[in-house]
Amino acid sequence: MRLFALSDPHLSFGTPNKTMDRFGPQWVGHADKIERAWRASVGADDVVLVPGDISWAMNLEQARPDLEFLGRLPGRKVLLKGNHDYWWSTIGKLRAALPPGMHAVQGDVVRLGPFAISGTRLWDQPGVSFHDAIDWQPREGGMVSAEPEAGDLAEAARLFERELGRLERAMEALAREGRDAAVRVAITHYPPCGGDLAPTRASALIEQAGARHCVFGHLHSLRRDLARPLFGERAGVRYHLASCDWIDFAPLRIAEA
Ligand SMILES: [Fe+2]
Ligand SMILES: [Fe+2]
Repeated sequence: MRLFALSDPHLSFGTPNKTMDRFGPQWVGHADKIERAWRASVGADDVVLVPGDISWAMNLEQARPDLEFLGRLPGRKVLLKGNHDYWWSTIGKLRAALPPGMHAVQGDVVRLGPFAISGTRLWDQPGVSFHDAIDWQPREGGMVSAEPEAGDLAEAARLFERELGRLERAMEALAREGRDAAVRVAITHYPPCGGDLAPTRASALIEQAGARHCVFGHLHSLRRDLARPLFGERAGVRYHLASCDWIDFAPLRIAEA
């Protein structure tokens, strides 16, 4: 069984005024690109992680066409909430609305064949910046803010601490409930560390949980001419950035077991 990831599809079937076209030519017709690549690589038994920024919808009803689009694609899907997923309701209501074969993770553990998967949204890491890695072409309505405003720093630190607590509990659950799984996988929406893999409190939690892979998204419009590769492997964990524009809208193969 294979594990893939494709994050941040930012779908808008239920909110046609929110298409992604304005973010650059690569986004024009991006749902069709995703569907083509997905059908070419993912089988019915495979698992695809979609860790956040799934839909522009503001409520569950509006998100339904986007969920049904993903639901029709091959394989089982594991969803996580991103910062743009305003439609993500209470977890019980959300799970009841998901098409068959779709799972939502919110700090708990999903077991699918050899894979144990857990995670939380997380937040911007204090002291970690991707500013120099992003191609800041002026576009209407950005998806990623450059840096928090000075006045927002205290609020950002408070949010980060809350999210780190949630990640800690999720990683404890992954270590406990996933101990007999062949492959433990951590998912977050925000990157848990910088592109240079310098250790953070979040990466320490992921490593302690015995995760073999960590998959995340959130970053967009990254430059292709970076001097050093972004992310990679450290302390036994392979860190995968799976934002769909970074991976050319084709599910990224993470593992096979
Ligand atoms: Fe995003
Ligand atoms: Fe995001």
